[in-house]
Amino acid sequence: MTSKTVAQLLSQDGTLQDVTLKGWVRTFRNDRFIALNDGSTINNIQCVVNSENFNEALLKRVTTGAAVHVTGELVESQGKGQSVEIVVKTLEILGDSDPETYPIQPKKHSFEFLRENAHLRTRTNTFSAVMRLRSSLSFAVHKYFNENGFNYMHTPIVTGSDAEGAGEMFKVTTLDAKNPPLNDDGSVNYKEDFFGKETNLTVSGQLEAETYAMSLGKVYTFGPTFRAENSNTTRHLAEFWMIEPEVAFMDLAGNMDLAEDFMKSVLSYVLEKNSEDLEFLENRLLQEEKSKPQAERSDMSLIEKIKFVVDNNFKRVSYTEAIDILRNCKPNKKKKFKYIIEEWGADLQSEHERFLVEKHFKCPVILFDYPANIKAFYMRLNEPDSEGRETVRAMDILFPGIGEMVGGSQREERLDVLKEKMKALDISEEELWWYLDLRKYGTAVHSGFGLGFERLVMFSTGMGNIRDVIPYPRTPQNAEF
Ligand code: 4AD
Ligand code: MG
Repeated sequence: MTSKTVAQLLSQDGTLQDVTLKGWVRTFRNDRFIALNDGSTINNIQCVVNSENFNEALLKRVTTGAAVHVTGELVESQGKGQSVEIVVKTLEILGDSDPETYPIQPKKHSFEFLRENAHLRTRTNTFSAVMRLRSSLSFAVHKYFNENGFNYMHTPIVTGSDAEGAGEMFKVTTLDAKNPPLNDDGSVNYKEDFFGKETNLTVSGQLEAETYAMSLGKVYTFGPTFRAENSNTTRHLAEFWMIEPEVAFMDLAGNMDLAEDFMKSVLSYVLEKNSEDLEFLENRLLQEEKSKPQAERSDMSLIEKIKFVVDNNFKRVSYTEAIDILRNCKPNKKKKFKYIIEEWGADLQSEHERFLVEKHFKCPVILFDYPANIKAFYMRLNEPDSEGRETVRAMDILFPGIGEMVGGSQREERLDVLKEKMKALDISEEELWWYLDLRKYGTAVHSGFGLGFERLVMFSTGMGNIRDVIPYPRTPQNAEF
């Protein structure tokens, strides 16, 4: 008796005498056809029961969601819609599922409803496809770096530093919130806290990754990151996964090459590996778009969009060029943007980024050399431009339908320049003594970037809400499960 997954059975050449299979019932039609799914593939296998051979009470328990064990023969299917099916010899109910209360009925559920039932939503086609893709993409991430000589590094989750200097951090403390120990001046005495200092959940593993790049050469981290930004959007999570490579002796141009090559590689991987899930998601999207006005529908299907990214060069555009385009574009002149672009130096909002990628260039865009004062302290300062404006070697990669997918930079490797910058921004040298040490002992050009993994999953699956591409989303006012 061979125990096989549905995926194996469906790709099986020829018939099989004795098969045994466990899975969950999707539907049970005409007291005869069980559509069984075990999570190994988007497809169900049809199990045909001859009701004369089974007692009625048992068949009554074959309900949507029930876990069952079937044994039987794999034969060529008589019916349409599948090439093989199982003629059931034995049927055992492993776990009942009360059809009166089981939330996942064989009908269309809204994503909002499924979010409330996130523990069961991977029993649906859409979410099983999305999560298999997510899994595949993470494997592809490790595969890429492994094959390209990177060391996988585990950066700490609890840190004492604010890597982005943005201050949007979750505090980690064991102090009693109602009665914390106080200093004489009334401030909280963190010396008595667990770590003897203020700590928070990491917003980025970058600074620690830099330390390892400056000894191991090529490293990456891929782990959870946390941001307490109160932005309730379809693209932000309070807990998300970030991929952060960091490479010694690599400049900004090399950083762009790496990011582009990396993204093309992982997307090619899933195109091949997850073709059935992608086809399902592509159709889902087509159906969804049918209810939208023509203007909002996309010109390309999901798979075409992914292939387009794999096959075409990303457009590299300096911030200064981008500002010129934006200043003179129609929505800016007609005041259609919420934030009108007037001057060089303006921070780009997502409406501007989306205009650039979706309307103007119609492809992924790498924006680089941003004004120094809208970017983080650790970015490599350029020589002032011909008009005396200061820029840093930063890059953001913008994707159609997503906006910012990647943020990265060449890092400031000069001790004096870095110190000056930290001073100007009131960033404590004592806290970051180890970061400064890298610039004292064997400093060198180095670069890296951070890619928001969920945004990559959104792009690859065509899902419109970031809450639907991570198992248990954490967002403002929500930490269920
Ligand atoms: O642009 P960010 O803030 O860059 C950094 O954290 C750098 N330290 C990375 C580095 O250079 N090693 O974040 C990087 C990416 C963004 O481009 C975005 O894709 C994603 O992380 N991201 C988020 N994804 C989901 N929810 C959020 N709240 C996110 N904030 C950033
Ligand atoms: Mg960013």
